[in-house]
Amino acid sequence: MKKITINYIKRLKSEEQPFATLTAYDYTSAKIVDATDVPIILVGDSAAMVVLGYETTIPVTMDEMIMLTSAVCRGTQRALVIADLPFMSYQASITDALHSAGRFMKEAGVSGVKLEGGIRMIPQIRALVDNGIPVMGHIGLTPQSFHQFSGYTVQGKSVKAIENLLADAHAVTEAGAFSLVLEGIPAEVGKLITDQISIPTIGIGAGPYCDGQIQVFHDILGLYGDFIPKHTKQFGKISEHITEAIQAYIQQVENRSFPAEENSTHLSASVLKNLSSKQT
Ligand code: KIV
Repeated sequence: MKKITINYIKRLKSEEQPFATLTAYDYTSAKIVDATDVPIILVGDSAAMVVLGYETTIPVTMDEMIMLTSAVCRGTQRALVIADLPFMSYQASITDALHSAGRFMKEAGVSGVKLEGGIRMIPQIRALVDNGIPVMGHIGLTPQSFHQFSGYTVQGKSVKAIENLLADAHAVTEAGAFSLVLEGIPAEVGKLITDQISIPTIGIGAGPYCDGQIQVFHDILGLYGDFIPKHTKQFGKISEHITEAIQAYIQQVENRSFPAEENSTHLSASVLKNLSSKQT
């Protein structure tokens, strides 16, 4: 099976081919996603919330991300796997960024990393790219700045903020990133950035004009029963199927129809005879 490359992702923009990407956080879900046409699997630090139950992405550690990312890599043969650098694993210095990204490449086996931030992260992006580590940028509503933004608030709504985002997008491109996630910005701003930069933009809550889209596995499958963020759509209601299946299991255990004959093994006639002679 042919592995998706960075050049393939870049070509999707020049060929004007919109593409859908997805997160995954474990071996089983990675295998399911990898069997589709999704070209990139992102092991997002959204794992902090959807897998580990934290309220924000801030608490997740490098060790936790390495464990999840390794499992995703073991379940993926075709898609490009990108790991999210968690909060404070890259911001403080170039050395931190190289060390953390290096761990993802060597210990988990990813093809690249994602980090949040525009102009202020250029030294880190440059150093990673110069050392052979592909980088996916991420600007707009960057969830690691949850407290700075006073919540998950849409960014890029004033002319000044849009100019700043455009400057960030150009800087990330010039620093050598191979793609750029645009999160939580008006659709018009998503279009403006997409039209102006040469690398693929990958939107989440950034409108329909981005080159690609990214969504959280749990969101599009409806693994959360009740909460549907505005930027997403439930393409399935898997939590309902899971609940139904668990209820059917409980019922069949209670009425003794599971395990059935086909789920059971039996002793041979000779052992059975021997056993019953010893029991009497
Ligand atoms: O952590 C994440 O899952 C992300 C994407 C949704 C862009 O950053």
